[in-house]
Order: sequence, then structure tokens, then C-alpha cells
Amino acid sequence: MIHPENIDLLIVEDDEDYRKTVVRWFIRRGYRVQDASTAEEALDRCQRQQFHVGVFDLRMPGKSGLELLQQIKASSSETEVILLTGEGTIETAVDAMKLGALDYLLKPFPLAELEGAVQRAAETSTLRKENRQLKALLQRSQGQLDMIGRSPPMLEVFRLIERAGPTDKAILIQGESGTGKELVARALQKVSLRADKPYVVINCAALPENLLESELFGHEKGAFTGAVTEKQGLFEVADGGTLFIDEIGELAGALQAKMLRVLQDGSMRRVGSLKERRVNVRILAATNRKLEDEVKAGRFREDLYYRINVLSLELPPVRKRGDDVRLLVEHFLGTEWKIEPEALKAICKYNWPGNVRQLINAIDRGKILADDHFIRLDDLPHEVADALAIEAAHVPASDDDLATVERAHVLEILKRERGNKSCAARALGVNRRSLYRLLEKYNIDPANPS
Ligand SMILES: Nc1ncnc2c1ncn2[C@@H]1O[C@H](COP(=O)(O)OP(=O)(O)OP(=O)(O)O)[C@@H](O)[C@H]1O
Ligand SMILES: [Mg+2]
Repeated sequence: MIHPENIDLLIVEDDEDYRKTVVRWFIRRGYRVQDASTAEEALDRCQRQQFHVGVFDLRMPGKSGLELLQQIKASSSETEVILLTGEGTIETAVDAMKLGALDYLLKPFPLAELEGAVQRAAETSTLRKENRQLKALLQRSQGQLDMIGRSPPMLEVFRLIERAGPTDKAILIQGESGTGKELVARALQKVSLRADKPYVVINCAALPENLLESELFGHEKGAFTGAVTEKQGLFEVADGGTLFIDEIGELAGALQAKMLRVLQDGSMRRVGSLKERRVNVRILAATNRKLEDEVKAGRFREDLYYRINVLSLELPPVRKRGDDVRLLVEHFLGTEWKIEPEALKAICKYNWPGNVRQLINAIDRGKILADDHFIRLDDLPHEVADALAIEAAHVPASDDDLATVERAHVLEILKRERGNKSCAARALGVNRRSLYRLLEKYNIDPANPS
């Protein structure tokens, strides 16, 4: 039941005695009530105030309850309407439901019954309002996000952002380098309850341990050489808002312990201080290491892992996003630039170990090399362009031919990469293990390819 104090009610009824009785009854039960004796008066009130529920008599002199309903629905859809009808007007009441009235009651009825209807209407009104707020939030965020993708795994990511963003829970974002983890963190913050509160980012890989500690937790004056003034840590700066901890896999052991404490009970101390401070911060974290493996290897505390991994979100690599690659290319090309079909084909074939970031770089590079706002195969980095050659080589007539072509191709790439296996594997679009399998199969010595 919604507390009567939170319900603004408008009673519209021309019979004065009856109206007063109803109003008094609701006021006594704690509702906030206004009343009107005509539709015109009611419209006037509605212009000045937002009501959750309106109770309208269908038959009134002048404008009828039905006209009133139509006008109210046209102007402020947040008001839910209950109609009161006499014997002769039931059919009109049924029509009125089609026009957006929520309910109708046939006079006479016990007032408790009307209260039940008012409660249901207030609940509906609240739900609709929440829905609208959510939609508005989402629209706003999607407009600003600019995350490209329509493939099933990306749609799943977007769905998780919508679901998990507003929960206030810690979220771990995992994914290969350049898959958009930072973008997702930002998106989660934008749909969160803390959207208007501070959003602070720290990259654990960017600072040495001692600096990182004072950056995160702050320090007192004189806490260490060089600490000439006191300083707020980022946990304090982010108080009430969100802290995005990037590359959390890089966090050193001592800091992991300190981090765990803040997450457990929201308390922390600045470096060089005994004073406990309380902060209320929502944590988002990202890593391109498999944090679970780090835990197994004993490099990352298990208890901290569970704290930050209340919900986790895995960004798929670009090579698993199907046609999204085309969409991304189109997006980063912009309206002024075109691309040769062969070049686009190569881009679609290539496996993008550096994901979206690598794709952006390749296109930016192409734009520098290309003439006439037209990117050709030659303007792409050679490993990308080569993806097409692999494709071409793969249409031999028989298995024997295939083996010959494949061996020649592996050899050629190895020579070009001067025996560097990582580079060769990348250029071939396979992982290192597959490369070793190829070398074994074709009896190739990587140090001396022939
Ligand atoms: N789906 C996407 N649509 C459009 N741009 C994207 C998308 N995903 C990532 N980007 C862009 O790609 C670049 C890399 O993204 P981001 O920095 O978020 O990746 P990351 O996963 O944090 O990488 P790293 O692991 O290297 O830190 C950014 O310029 C980002 O704006
Ligand atoms: Mg990043």
C-alpha cells in the first residue's frame, strides 16, 4: 500500500453534499485531497498541480467527466483516472476505459472500495513514472554513448549495462585490450543512480605502488618526503559517486588489502594518518588479464576478487562480433570517406588482436596515406592487407595443393617477420599454439625458414 501522504488526489463531483463527504473521508485517512465541482475547475487545478489520481463523476452539468478525461489524458498522462457512474452511464464508463480511464465504480459503493481503486491507481501512476524515468535515462545515455554494435554478443553487453548499471553493485568489466572497457564503465555510470555524482578514473598500471596508494587514499602533510600538504585521495573525491579502477589486475598486494577494507565497510585511512574516514563509493573495475587466473596463481586476493566481481561483464573481442566490424568501419570513416571493397574485405577477414582501438588506428593511418578520401587495400597496415592474401591462397583444387600453398604462405610470412613467432602468428591470424602446430606439420624451422 502506498502511504496516503504520498498520494495527491483530485475529486470532481457536482453534488456538493456527496463531494464533501468523500473529501472528508479521504482527508481523515491522510490523503492529500483537492476537489472541484465542475470539469472547468478541475482542469484549472490540474494545470497548477500534478495529481496522481483523479476521481471524476461522469455526469456533470457543463463539460462531462468524459470530456474532462480526454483533456487530462491529452495534457498530463501521469494522472490516473477513476470514473464514478450512475445506472444510466455504465456504457459510457466502458467507453471511457478505452480512452484511458483506469477503473470505474457504480454508485452507490462503500468508500473503502473507492479507496482500494485509488490505491491501485496510485501504484499504476508510480510505476508509469518510474518507467518513464528509466526510459529517459536510457535514451540520454544511449545518445551520448556512441557504442557501435548490433551483433548478439554486443546486444547482450548493452542489455547488461541497462540492467546492472542502476543497481549500485560493484561490476568487473573484462575483455581483451581495446574492446571498449573504459567506454562500458562510462556507460554504466551514466545509467546509474549516481549519474549526476562525481565519476573518477584511476589507472593502476600508470603509477608505481607508493604513488598509487596516496593517489587512491590520500595522505597527511609530512606523511612522506615530498608530502608538503595534505591531500584527498580519489576515494574521497569520488565520495557519493563512482570510482572506475582501470587495470585492477596490476594492483599490488598491500593495496589489495587496503582496497578490500574500503569495499567491506566503507572505511579507509589516508597515508600517514590514524583517522578513519568513511566513504560511500560505487566501484567499477576493469582488467584485460583473466582475473580468475590471477587469483589461482595467487597474485590477486580471492576475497577482493569476490568483492569487485559481484556482477561481471565480458566484452567480446572484435573477431567475435560478426558484421559489427563493418558498422565500426563505417562509423570511423565518417561521411566524407569511402573505402575500397577489397580493403573492407581484408578488414573483415583480419582477426584484430588489438580490437576496436587497433581498428581505429588502422583507419586513421589509412586516412593519412590515402588520396581523394578513398582508402585502398594498400593504405592498410600490411598485416591487415595480408588477411586477404590468406583468403586468396585458400582456394586450391585439392588437399595436396592446399598443403603446398599453406606451407608456402607460412614460410613467406615467417621470412617477412624475420622468424619472430608472435608477429608471424598475428599476421597469419592464428594463436601461437596453432603456429607451432603449423611449423611442426610442415617441418619448418622458424629460425631458418626455407
Ligand atoms: N563499440 C564501440 N563503438 C565505438 N567505439 C568504440 C567501441 N568500443 C571501443 N571503442 C573505442 O575504441 C577505443 C578503445 O576503447 P577503450 O579505451 O574503452 O578500450 P579498453 O578495453 O579500455 O582498452 P585497454 O584494455 O587497452 O585499456 C576508444 O577510442 C573507444 O572509444
Ligand atoms: Mg582501458
